[in-house]
Amino acid sequence: MNLAVVYPGTFDPITNGHTDLVRRGSRVFSRIIVGVASDTGKQTTFSLEERVRLAREALSDVPGVTVTGFSGLLVNFVRTHDASLILRGLRAVSDFEHEFQLSSMNRKLDPDIESIFLTPDEAYGFISSSLVKEIARLGGDVSDFVSPSVQKALITRFK
Ligand code: COA
Repeated sequence: MNLAVVYPGTFDPITNGHTDLVRRGSRVFSRIIVGVASDTGKQTTFSLEERVRLAREALSDVPGVTVTGFSGLLVNFVRTHDASLILRGLRAVSDFEHEFQLSSMNRKLDPDIESIFLTPDEAYGFISSSLVKEIARLGGDVSDFVSPSVQKALITRFK
């Protein structure tokens, strides 16, 4: 489809679950803008610049993808990029409530912006950035869950 979609997230750091979702999205949409949020209310392990760099590296081989950091409201970021779609992933039923609330609030903020959802490969259904960080912090192997550059960044961070 000749459509642009924004895939927002904290990406602290980007995991194989996120990249799987972007790859699936790239088969459907002509342009995917990965928006790395600074205003998420989360205390992040990596700076915005590091999260953007790691996401760019992990997605460098996916056509039609750009990675950009943003601050402020997501709906404003979507409009700035001449898009009207937000892409989010649903890993399990437990994601639904939060995603329903986010998409309803975003629709209230801008009724012209729609949220759409894709599911990642089942192999990634259990991955989250927090779990990956906990495993890395405790010296576990995270190579099945993140790209080599993210793995390197995690090892350096938790050395
Ligand atoms: N694979 C693996 N993990 C995934 C995943 C996937 N496909 N999809 C989500 N996750 C994980 C993330 O790693 C993250 O895990 P963590 O909590 O352990 O770190 C969790 O699911 C959800 O995080 P994230 O995708 O970053 O979403 P979020 O709920 O933190 O929301 C924004 C982030 C950017 C969408 C939201 O904060 C936002 O819009 N901020 C901008 C300000 C704004 O507009 N606020 C008003 C919103 S109504």
